Amino acid sequence: MKIIHKIPEMQKITKKLHSANKTIGLVPTMGALHGGHISLIQRARKENDCVIVSIFVNPTQFGPNEDYLRYPRPFNKDVRMCKKYGVNYVFAPTPKEMYDINHLSYVTVEKLSNILCGEFRQGHFRGVTTVVTKLFNITQPDRAYFGEKDYQQLMIIQKMVNDLNFPVKIIPCPTIRENDGLALSSRNLCLSKNERIRAGKIYRILLRVKKLFHEKKLLSADKIVNYIKNEIRRVPGLRIQYVKICNSKTLDEIKGKLYSPARILIAVWDGKTRLIDNIEI
Ligand code: PAJ
Repeated sequence: MKIIHKIPEMQKITKKLHSANKTIGLVPTMGALHGGHISLIQRARKENDCVIVSIFVNPTQFGPNEDYLRYPRPFNKDVRMCKKYGVNYVFAPTPKEMYDINHLSYVTVEKLSNILCGEFRQGHFRGVTTVVTKLFNITQPDRAYFGEKDYQQLMIIQKMVNDLNFPVKIIPCPTIRENDGLALSSRNLCLSKNERIRAGKIYRILLRVKKLFHEKKLLSADKIVNYIKNEIRRVPGLRIQYVKICNSKTLDEIKGKLYSPARILIAVWDGKTRLIDNIEI
């Protein structure tokens, strides 16, 4: 396995791989790798000749008061994990390498970037779509792997790829969870013991509400949203940022009678850590 820090070197390698007719699978990450990332890597390993994992904590997707500096960066451990799971190249550029001091160009997916998380994280998705575009241009993947854990991100990237004709197939991968249901996330490392315990309740509430819906005990979107909000409010220390039910394909908010395909999306503060989750209903 090789670690590449420079863009021209990575581009030279991917060009060579393509001329040798090798397929490339890209797994973009911000590091602090866990079972969720590993599931993407394993899927990429199965479906491609060559697997590239990018590790880059992307400054342009963090707001001024967000946790860019606090974000965990256990680089050596990440490299060991990549080696263990058969990754061929780790692409780990510095912020300076990715963003020239005169950087002026950004990619934006309109509308979808301003709802849900985007309403509370101004500029976040613009940062994501810009860095993912750069990573696609640098690594030229045939397939790129994204987790459903960040469902809005996945939908935005899929839309960008469709709208702008990127020659890459986006592969959605299911959310990997801890035993108590908490979605694996690099930010879980920031939780204290008590915060960690109550974090597990979020997904269990979503599962309960899904069951109530299928038993026809809760049918309208508004009732489901209110039920979830009340249940979260009963957990001391959790603070809701949003709970919404959206069309799974368009992310249009559903109000009134629920129809499929629909997905509940939620963002909750647990102490100083913001957690997101979602479930198909
Ligand atoms: P990061 O949070 O490191 O996540 C990298 C990829 O792993 C994303 O596609 C994310 O959805 C997926 N992932 C995270 N937790 C998961 C879980 N529990 N189960 C399944 N997949 C999971 O998302 C980003 O980085 C960045 O925004 C990035 C796309 C790299 C752009 O900077």
